[in-house]
Amino acid sequence: MGKIIDGKKIAEKIYKQLENEISELKKNGHTITLAVINIGEDAASKIYISNKKKMCEKLGINSKMFYLPNDLAEEKLLDLIDELNENPKINGILVQLPLPNHIDSKKVIEKIDPKKDVDGFNYINLGKLFGDNESGFLLPCTAEGIMEIFRKENIKLSGKNCVIINRSNIIGKPLALMMLKEDATVTVCHSKTRNLKDICKTADIIISAAGKMNLVTKDMAKPKAILIDVGINRDKDGKVCGDVDFQNVKDIASFISPVPGGVGPMTVAMLLHNTIKAYDRQKGN
Ligand code: GUN
Repeated sequence: MGKIIDGKKIAEKIYKQLENEISELKKNGHTITLAVINIGEDAASKIYISNKKKMCEKLGINSKMFYLPNDLAEEKLLDLIDELNENPKINGILVQLPLPNHIDSKKVIEKIDPKKDVDGFNYINLGKLFGDNESGFLLPCTAEGIMEIFRKENIKLSGKNCVIINRSNIIGKPLALMMLKEDATVTVCHSKTRNLKDICKTADIIISAAGKMNLVTKDMAKPKAILIDVGINRDKDGKVCGDVDFQNVKDIASFISPVPGGVGPMTVAMLLHNTIKAYDRQKGN
């Protein structure tokens, strides 16, 4: 059986480092504040947000929560972001997605000051991913969390065939660039991809973020493949599960990340890492 990647344990180690950094800052009278905006009543968003808030508290980062109604006008949200951009006491801004249909997410993300964009979704931050020598910018948390898993598990990407099943600006595209920088050969698949099974069969590493239960089955993975599962789904009993048929694939994989407890905790850890990075950038460190 393959090694089950314990994302919670890796995240705990990151939190220890972050806690030390924050306590040093606090000793010197500094505070770090993350503004979190949630619009509407999406149940999953509320759970994600409450996790983020809890972890901020645990680490000693102030969180300023904005729970706003579903019918909030787009202009009002953009004005709030303007205010938070201008407020020197706010170091990071996160707008929980998805947003209600009447609000243009792109406009909202682009409104956030790139220096405070702790999600790393702004085009300035995403654009810097294309550069070879850029540094100090904010990276999208899930993609960076996956890269951190590779580093911590000592999984080398150079020359590996990697298949990413997701082409979003938030996960698939930035992750493809990050893996390419580590000399992986990357194939990005999506809903229109033909012969997904055959493509996956060539992969040393499969990363699935499709949001489809049992999308990746044992017959799609070659022996000793590495499987990273970013899917969050619910099975017929309401239990949270990923995209990979974990029970059957784990026997042939060399590494496999579970859902829950794999990539999820890494995403939150990288968000808090980004919040400290954002603080540092604003202070010119
Ligand atoms: N919704 C689901 N995942 C995320 C995330 O990483 N950031 C934000 N802002 N919204 C999300």
